[in-house]
Amino acid sequence: MNEFTIERIKTGIPGLDDLIEGGFPKGDTILVAGKAGTGKSILATQFIYKGATVYDEPGVLVTLEEPPSAIKRNMMRFGMDLKKLEEENMLSLVDLSPARPQPKNLYEYPSFDLSGLEAIIHSHIDRINAKRVVIDTLSILAYKFKSRDILREEFFKICASITKKDTTLLLTSEIPARDTGLGVFDIEAFLASGVIVLYNEKISDTSRSRSIEVLKLRGSKHSSRIHSMRITDEGIRVWPGEISPGS
Ligand SMILES: Nc1ncnc2c1ncn2[C@@H]1O[C@H](COP(=O)(O)OP(=O)(O)OP(=O)(O)O)[C@@H](O)[C@H]1O
Ligand SMILES: [Mg+2]
Repeated sequence: MNEFTIERIKTGIPGLDDLIEGGFPKGDTILVAGKAGTGKSILATQFIYKGATVYDEPGVLVTLEEPPSAIKRNMMRFGMDLKKLEEENMLSLVDLSPARPQPKNLYEYPSFDLSGLEAIIHSHIDRINAKRVVIDTLSILAYKFKSRDILREEFFKICASITKKDTTLLLTSEIPARDTGLGVFDIEAFLASGVIVLYNEKISDTSRSRSIEVLKLRGSKHSSRIHSMRITDEGIRVWPGEISPGS
């Protein structure tokens, strides 16, 4: 290994590492995008869970959409016990879901910025010495920004800050069914060094098929095919040798 070697961290998604030369480049920002219900939250949470349980890397899971109780209940279906991980200080779940009253100064109105959010995330990273961070999902905040330029700058700042100590950051982003005009996905895809897209496409009148595509991964020779993916009783699994029937 020399200064030019890219260190990789295992994703914890069976089959996915085979598509990306062994894992995500350590300390990078990765975007997991897809339409509603494609499995973004499950994939992101599995990345944190497996990181903590298999690779001994503590993780911070910031949730801006689903309340932690729902996440814990859903992940338990896959045998992933998040509560236990929290008790072992291998997981810090940061609840910024709309159901919960937000702490003061989280976002500094009226000139909305993300420095409050950044500080909170850093305090959780420091507390458990986290190596992996998930924000599910940053794009939910996009509408609060006055302009696309400010949005891009703030998203860039927070990603750069979280990854500066080699922490790997995974963001989720919903690809809207119709374009909202803000182009949030384009901004996130631009500033992330990797983009993974999840699909759940209709393949006949009566069935849909899940698949996954590595749209980009800087510094990596990745698959350019769309591969089959399933949500099994053990979580998300990718079949590297199987090309999606819908593609
Ligand atoms: N135990 C399970 N077994 C099989 N499939 C499941 C299970 N739990 C959830 N799913 C599937 O996963 C989907 C939800 O996945 P997830 O919450 O990760 O999607 P998402 O992309 O984050 O959606 P959203 O954009 O709404 O946040 C469900 O709609 C369902 O199809
Ligand atoms: Mg989700």
